[in-house]
Amino acid sequence: MEPCIFVLFGATGDLSRRKLLPALFRLYCEDMLPRNFAIVGFAIPDKKQPDYQEFVREALTEFVGDNERHTCALNEFIALTSLIPADFSDPEAYKKLADALKETDAARETGGNRLFYLATPPTCVPDVLQNLQAAGLVTDSAHKTPWTRLIAEKPFGIDRDSARRMTALFHNIAKEDQVYRIDHYLGKDAVQDVTVLRFANSLFEPLWNRGYVDHVQVTVAETLGVERRGNYFNSMGETRDMVQSHALQVIALVAMEPPNSFSAAAIRDEKVKVLEAMRPLNSHYAVRGQYGPGKDTEGKPVPGYRSEYAVPPDSTTETYMAARLFIESWRWSGVPFYIRAGKRLPKQRTEVNIQFKGAPLTLFRGSSRKPEPNVLRLRIQPDAEIALTVELKRPGTAHDLLPVELDMLYGDVFKENRMRDAYERLLLDALHGDALLFMREDEIDAAWRVVDPLLAYWRSDPDVPGYPAGTWGPDAADDLIARDGRKWID
Ligand code: BG6
Repeated sequence: MEPCIFVLFGATGDLSRRKLLPALFRLYCEDMLPRNFAIVGFAIPDKKQPDYQEFVREALTEFVGDNERHTCALNEFIALTSLIPADFSDPEAYKKLADALKETDAARETGGNRLFYLATPPTCVPDVLQNLQAAGLVTDSAHKTPWTRLIAEKPFGIDRDSARRMTALFHNIAKEDQVYRIDHYLGKDAVQDVTVLRFANSLFEPLWNRGYVDHVQVTVAETLGVERRGNYFNSMGETRDMVQSHALQVIALVAMEPPNSFSAAAIRDEKVKVLEAMRPLNSHYAVRGQYGPGKDTEGKPVPGYRSEYAVPPDSTTETYMAARLFIESWRWSGVPFYIRAGKRLPKQRTEVNIQFKGAPLTLFRGSSRKPEPNVLRLRIQPDAEIALTVELKRPGTAHDLLPVELDMLYGDVFKENRMRDAYERLLLDALHGDALLFMREDEIDAAWRVVDPLLAYWRSDPDVPGYPAGTWGPDAADDLIARDGRKWID
């Protein structure tokens, strides 16, 4: 792999501590980072642990399992890290960064290649980009040495206009193929398997259309509340935080046409067609909710959203949303895609359920119940799984039908393979210069087009229904799908 310096903006923040440093460390342990490599942080030093290498050590001690840590050279990895103490808006700090990068190039032979990771609040992005350019730190190629790649964290804007402005800022200093926009769901193995299942098997594709699929359900349920992120979450809400990016990206993979090849361009071309064919969400077929006091998964009382850290007591931000979506394409016309996403729900569960049409004829009249339609479940987490429900007869009876699951748990089948954290995969791809699992500007633009009208409508209506923490959201979500004669699959 080509040498480079990984420059981490926000190197003392939560994402760096919990995800990015552990991911880089694991890649280092598996010898998957470039031989000539360094990590240069750029951030205000942590108050509790101002020595950056000690900060990294503490982060890895907390977020990497004991077994993994002892098997490889923790100290060697830590020696690759350093920090430029900096305020993102201070041009002087970027001069220091430029000097440090030159010295590191000389010491480690990193060849001038840079991977800039912007793990900063979105409000700091303009400062970082302008200053990087002013300090002459951005070259004009994503692949030709000395190359520059920029990784942008989500959220990419808060609506279509702001996303376009953000894109313009990136394009002021770099070309589109130098910008890697993260949606970490795309780094999850089970999400990547949506396309593998569809296009490496001939079984499903003939059935994957309005002729055979009754409807699709996408559930993104979390048991956690907003933790200490009230400030961020309150300005976003569940629709921007989980649906605009994660849920729509997963739907794009489920619904896209077969690409001509598995290149970044071909896959992203197909995804964007689906996103562009989505009808914008409509308030008549969308429901929101906000969790009130209730119980966590262990039955312990938890506060309502409005009592969470940094959340205003009169907040109208939604922590739950459900909606019906249509894709106006030849393949999917008339097939509803139901989405539900929420915090403080009873179970953590991210899955796609594809419900096929029922059998055309009831042949088994002796059965006490009608056969259920087949459902293909692609569970992304917590335990990745692919399952297909089929009807069989209870042994020993003539026609007593019952639904059973043909079930494949990743943990059972792929015992030898560690499921990588999504960030490991994404960092590795960015280091290789492979943008397939990152979002292109037109995908982001099309996704905001889908959610913007609904968000605008909700802004004008401050009446947000509540749901007790630990329940499956407001009753209106059940009504939403029941109106179409269907129900949520549990
Ligand atoms: C993030 C959201 O993008 O995804 C968080 O900002 C959410 O609110 C998180 O909790 C969920 O990620 P995962 O990988 O735990 O499903």
